[in-house]
Amino acid sequence: MTKPKIVIGNWKMNKDFEEAEDLITQIEEQLADFQLQTEVVLCPPAVYAELVTDHADIDENHFYAGLQNVSEFENGAYTGEISAEMMASMNVDFCIVGHSERRKYFGETDEVVLKKMHRLLTNDIVPVMCCGETLEERKAGKHFEVVQKQIESTVCTLTADELERVMIAYEPIWAIGTGETATPAQAQEMLAFIRSLIEKKFGTELAVFTYILYGGSCNAKNALELFSQPDVDGGLIGGASLKPDEFVKIIEAAETVIKDN
Ligand code: PGA
Repeated sequence: MTKPKIVIGNWKMNKDFEEAEDLITQIEEQLADFQLQTEVVLCPPAVYAELVTDHADIDENHFYAGLQNVSEFENGAYTGEISAEMMASMNVDFCIVGHSERRKYFGETDEVVLKKMHRLLTNDIVPVMCCGETLEERKAGKHFEVVQKQIESTVCTLTADELERVMIAYEPIWAIGTGETATPAQAQEMLAFIRSLIEKKFGTELAVFTYILYGGSCNAKNALELFSQPDVDGGLIGGASLKPDEFVKIIEAAETVIKDN
């Protein structure tokens, strides 16, 4: 049996409060009609965390609360930062780490990403660790090498017990927000490669168990084909997660794949 898919909405730095409220209400209303097997995670900007944690109820509304970033530090004198402990106290269950926008604009290195993963794991929050290559790296044929380094210096340094609570999202940078999605074959090829790295370090059982998602211009039109690939366990959705109808169609695509298998 295919394992349930995961669809994560990354709202990035979008929506004012009223719009965010409206978005969540619409998603909630639409999802209420489903008996979902797919797990849905909504990651709003941190300032709206309570909006999502208040609504999130996996039995009633079918979604979990997530955020987009966490401090690498514990609590203390770090102005502007939000700790994993604070997030846990707000019932946040998931957090994206190492998104390419954070790596690019905020200088996040694999070392920092790993520290953040440890902070999240200590506080029982699932890190969704992003990796992916630039267009130049792909054109130069270096994409496997780049992703391998990102995976080996983060995920592969964890214990098996920690890895069980981690998800990985492959997001080729050239596909993020560009409308240029990786082909299903490209996504499958890289996700299978990532799974093979996990297998080498942790064994087959854990490699099969680990959730590996695709992200980068995933939308209602291409989700079904992407999610039908054997190694694609779901999607990390940016732009399309801001449109309730489209986001729900992506969730429906995940459901279709599970039901057909
Ligand atoms: P996109 O973003 O779906 O808008 O390409 C995905 C992401 O950055 O997580």
